[in-house]
Amino acid sequence: MATEPSSGGFHRDVRADFPILAADLDGRPPVYLDNAATTQKPRQVLDAMHAYYCQDNSNVGRSVHTLSMRATDRYEQARERVARFVNASGGNEIVFTKGTTESVNLVAEGFGRELLRAGDEVLISGLEHHSNLLPWRRLCERTGAVLKVAAVDEHGELSAAAFSAQLSDRTRIVAVAHVSNVQGTVTPVGEVIEAAHARGAVVVVDGAQAVAHRAVDVQALDADFYCFSAHKMYGPLGTGVLYGKAGHLARMEALLMGGGMVRRASYDGPLTLAPPPHLMESGTPNIAGAVGLAAAMDYLDDLGVERVAAHDAELTARAAAGLRAQDGVTVFGAQRPEGGIVSFAVDGIHPYDVGNHLNNAGIATRTGVHCAMPFVDSLGVVGTVRASFGVYNTAEEADLLVETVKTAEKGFWSLEHPNDRSLAG
Ligand code: ALA
Repeated sequence: MATEPSSGGFHRDVRADFPILAADLDGRPPVYLDNAATTQKPRQVLDAMHAYYCQDNSNVGRSVHTLSMRATDRYEQARERVARFVNASGGNEIVFTKGTTESVNLVAEGFGRELLRAGDEVLISGLEHHSNLLPWRRLCERTGAVLKVAAVDEHGELSAAAFSAQLSDRTRIVAVAHVSNVQGTVTPVGEVIEAAHARGAVVVVDGAQAVAHRAVDVQALDADFYCFSAHKMYGPLGTGVLYGKAGHLARMEALLMGGGMVRRASYDGPLTLAPPPHLMESGTPNIAGAVGLAAAMDYLDDLGVERVAAHDAELTARAAAGLRAQDGVTVFGAQRPEGGIVSFAVDGIHPYDVGNHLNNAGIATRTGVHCAMPFVDSLGVVGTVRASFGVYNTAEEADLLVETVKTAEKGFWSLEHPNDRSLAG
């Protein structure tokens, strides 16, 4: 396999930007196809965070000294950068969180809790990640609302018609993934939003798997809330975003009470809190994380988001075609490659054994239920092997995946034993 840097059609040597690609894993560099779990980080992001800590580090919004004002500027500039990246109308619509999971939970508890009455409905799709299922399930259990699930068709596709058929006058919230983390299915989120709005429902989009592979314009989508994580788009771990329309954020409660959100406080008298987004960010925020996310967005914009989308789709389609051509291999969904993900199963071989075999060849994939157990159960398999592509992956790596799967053999794990999918979901 060729391991030389490959431009992938980009104007710069992308592989050279990612220090980890030069790491030595038992005598070879990593073939990293687990980008849907987390992407690697370019030195531009690492350098921006290093420079922040070396030159600007302090706490935000709390002091008049120079470093504090610099840190505050960097943090608020990052917020504006995020707003531009997703075309929010301004930084006031961007709440920093620690990731998509926190963003969804913030909407569920800070917005949905007040909104829902017994008998109201929350509609999700049949391919959701646990992060966009369990917060809604718990909220429904606590409020007496009903959780409805729009079915995915036999190809794993979610049609806008199937979704609309589940909408009713009691639907208050619709929560849907933009791209399935299991098989890369791109949902017709624009049509879902339009249909939901026609029934007066608010739409929460889990964009965790979308933002690294496509341009996202929250105003064009007319999304009410859009949630994503920095670490899946070449940014740092521990930083996420909740975009919310200003009018919705203004109706929300904070989940965490503490410093940084207060205008006036007392023991039992007046309590005046800051407006969003600072209302939802009490405690010292992850300032370096926001700086790193802004740098990741600069990096993606420098590569060109459309070029990134085309590159990832090309590799995904190549791997999917090679795997589909193999006897005994089932490729799930991936009718369209834009999601950057190929999920597959090999007849008679547990996905963990396939994953171990790939790992022995230096290839990193994710195996199991991918934090989406009800959806994977609906596929009728114990789990899948998931290969997910990013900007530094090459055609050679996609081909190596396909060739290596051909030599997978049954190993330690049993397909029959119900507990043989023990990795956390
Ligand atoms: N949500 C991440 C994934 O799908 C962790 O792998």
